[in-house]
Amino acid sequence: MTSSGRLARWRSPGRVNLIGEHTDYNDGFCMPLAIEQGCTATATALDEPVVRISSAQRGTPVEVGLDELAPGCFAEQDEWASYPAGVLWALMERGSKLGGLSIAVDGDVPAGAGLSSSAALECAVAAAVGDLLELGLSRADLVSVARQAENDFVGAPTGGMDQLASVFGQAGHVLLCDMRSMDVEPIPFDLETAGLNLLVIDSRAPHQLTDGLYGERRAACEEAARQLGVPALRDVGLEELDAAMATLDSDLLRKRARHVITENDRTEAVAQLLRTGQLRAIGPLLTASHESLRDDFEVSVPEVDLAVEVLLAFGAYGARITGGGFGGCAIALIEPAQAREAAIAVGAAFAGRQYRAPSSFTVTPAAGTRSLG
Ligand code: GLA
Repeated sequence: MTSSGRLARWRSPGRVNLIGEHTDYNDGFCMPLAIEQGCTATATALDEPVVRISSAQRGTPVEVGLDELAPGCFAEQDEWASYPAGVLWALMERGSKLGGLSIAVDGDVPAGAGLSSSAALECAVAAAVGDLLELGLSRADLVSVARQAENDFVGAPTGGMDQLASVFGQAGHVLLCDMRSMDVEPIPFDLETAGLNLLVIDSRAPHQLTDGLYGERRAACEEAARQLGVPALRDVGLEELDAAMATLDSDLLRKRARHVITENDRTEAVAQLLRTGQLRAIGPLLTASHESLRDDFEVSVPEVDLAVEVLLAFGAYGARITGGGFGGCAIALIEPAQAREAAIAVGAAFAGRQYRAPSSFTVTPAAGTRSLG
């Protein structure tokens, strides 16, 4: 099989969510930042109507006929290919005519860490294929194609924050995302000028969004909104919290809804502080978000709770789990002079409990999806 013509190469980043967790599928607010780690996708045309997908991180390439692309078409060992293939499927669902394609991907977002390696992959592929075939996709189109791939082809019922962050990321900024209007407000978050680190601890506790727990949380939120008679929990303000608690019919729904209602409020409060350059002052809101995710939304794990506890004990202004949860990473806003010592202390605490050794690194807000020519 031969490839012909030009080549399109695009890179799209992973993300860290600063605050606003499990709010996106409630039409609420979240505040991610794109990170340096990401995925590069290179697309070229093939003469035959097949899709060949290869990854620098995987073994044998996967090949599938264009007309065979359908949700569930991959064997378990090839499931990684469903993210790029899902993007092609979503494009065809929208009426784009695709010919044979070779897609080569190469990424450095740790998989399963809750840093959106999958959104990085989807968005890079959507951008590369859109460019190669001159489909005229806007940035908003990239987000929705990538999201359709993840929701309807891969089958992960996620809420869209990750793709929005990957596509619209801006160096030096977090993005306040209104997940109802899909408006994105970049807010300066210049860690270097503020003399701060955003430290990430990857707990390496396994994380998986397709295993049902995420979907359960989402279903509980939808049920709570139904009982409250609103389109989504976004429509319940903090001043209505007590009334909402009195209306809901179970403790479980009360806890889930309380998280979302308070988290939306915390996210807007963080936005307000950052708009006026008060980076250190957001710390307590980050920690309150963690407590809410741990106690009310129940998506943390002992490894991440321990990391947060140690980070706070070592001087972090605030620390929290980031991403979907059930494993993944903790983040901390911390003075650079304390970051190394804090990371070492987390490692020692993990060793003391026989947890897998965590990894740590700092992140700064990076640019979103971009062409590498
Ligand atoms: C995952 C999902 C997002 C979002 C977060 C939780 O990352 O992909 O859509 O729901 O979990 O905030």
